[in-house]
Amino acid sequence: MPIRSSGFSTTGEGGGDGSGGGSRGGDRPPVDRNRLIGGGYNGSEDSDEYSLRPKRLAEYIGQPKIKENLGIALTAAKMREECLDHILLHGPPGLGKTSLANVIANEMGAGLKTTSGPAIERPGDLVAILSNLEPGSVLFIDEIHRLNRLAEEFLYPAMEDFKMDMVIGQGPSARTVQLPLPRFTLIGATTRPGLLTNPLRDRFGIIQPFEFYTAEDLQKIITRSAQIMDVPIEPAGAYEIGRRSRGTPRIANRLLKRVRDFAQVRADGHITEEVADAALKMQGVDEIGLDEFDRRFLRLLIEKFEGGPVGLETLAATLQEERDTLEDVVEPFLMSLGFINRTPRGRVATRGAYEHLGIAYRTANTGGSGDNPYQPPLL
Ligand SMILES: Nc1ncnc2c1ncn2[C@@H]1O[C@H](COP(=O)(O)OP(=O)(O)OP(=O)(O)O)[C@@H](O)[C@H]1O
Ligand SMILES: [Mg+2]
Repeated sequence: MPIRSSGFSTTGEGGGDGSGGGSRGGDRPPVDRNRLIGGGYNGSEDSDEYSLRPKRLAEYIGQPKIKENLGIALTAAKMREECLDHILLHGPPGLGKTSLANVIANEMGAGLKTTSGPAIERPGDLVAILSNLEPGSVLFIDEIHRLNRLAEEFLYPAMEDFKMDMVIGQGPSARTVQLPLPRFTLIGATTRPGLLTNPLRDRFGIIQPFEFYTAEDLQKIITRSAQIMDVPIEPAGAYEIGRRSRGTPRIANRLLKRVRDFAQVRADGHITEEVADAALKMQGVDEIGLDEFDRRFLRLLIEKFEGGPVGLETLAATLQEERDTLEDVVEPFLMSLGFINRTPRGRVATRGAYEHLGIAYRTANTGGSGDNPYQPPLL
C-alpha cells in the first residue's frame, strides 16, 4: 500500500507533536515523562493504558522466568490455601510491574489495594491502609523506594508477623499495644532496587527482576493491543514496531498509537511494515529504537567527552535533564545494547555506540585497558 505524502504535513523533524524529546534546545522543559519513547507513564497519552493491561497470567506476554517462578508460587499458595509470600518487582519503567501486580491479585482471586511510596506521608497513613485490608488481599506499593523511613519501620512487623506495634498515650503513661493484622501479600514495585534498605528488602520472600522484552514478545503485545484498539495490523508491521520499542511494552503501545494515526492519514489505515517504518522514522525513532535524545546523549559522551569516562552529574547538567531520568530511563536500555558502560569513574561509550552513530572508534580513556567491563550490581 503506497504511503501518501499529504501536502499539509504539520509534523516537523523529530516529532513536532512535542513528544520527540531532544530536538528542542534552550530552555525546554525536561523531556523525561513526555518523551515519545521515554518509558515513563505519560498522563493523558496513556489514559487508556488500563484497558490494554493484561488481566490474567496467560495474557501476560514475555518475562518467562518471572511467569514460571510466580506460576509455581501461585499454585502452591492456592493448594495450601495461604497468602502468597511478599513480592518485590524491580526493573525500568513500563516493563509491566503494575500490570503483574494486578495479574497476581486476579490469579489469587484476592482484592487489590494500590498505593505508592510518596502517597504514604506519615506512618498513620500506612496504619489506616493496613488495618483496613481484607484477609488474604494484596497490597501494592508502587515506588516503594520512596517510602518514608518511619512508615517503613511500621511495615517490618506487619510484613513479618502480621501485627503492628502502636504506642498509645504520651509520657510516662505511654504503652505499646500490638494490633493484629489480617494476613496479606505485599507487592512492592521499584525502578531503583538499590535504594531499598536491607531490612525492607530482606522481608520479601520473592524478588523478581524484570528484563527488557524481545522483539517477538513485543510483536505479540502489539498484536494484542491492536486487536483491543480495533486497528488492522500485519505481523510484519507489528514486528517492526516491536523491534523499535526499546524492549518496553509501554513504549510499544505508545508507538502503536502514533503509527495508527500515521496509517490513517497517510495510508489506508492498515499498518504494514512499510507504514510502520515510515511513521517511526518521522517520529525520530531509528532502526534500533533510539530517539533523538538517546542519540544526543551518546553524541555528547563521544564528541564532547571523548567517549568518557564522564560523571552522570555532568551529563545531566549538559543535557538539562534530571539525573534520575538518565539513570532510570535512558541508560538501562543503552547498557542493554552494550552502548555504554557504568564505571567507577563515570560513563563510557563502547565501540557499538561509535559504530551506531557512524563515528570512528577511539578507545575510551579508562586508563589504557579499553572498555571497562565493570557494571555495578543491580541490587
Ligand atoms: N507482559 C505484558 N503483556 C502485555 N502488555 C503488557 C505487559 N507488560 C506491560 N504491558 C503493557 O504496558 C503498559 C505499562 O505497563 P505497567 O504500567 O505495568 O509498567 P510498570 O513496570 O508498572 O511501569 P512504571 O515503572 O512506570 O510504573 C501496560 O498498560 C500494559 O498495556
Ligand atoms: Mg507501574
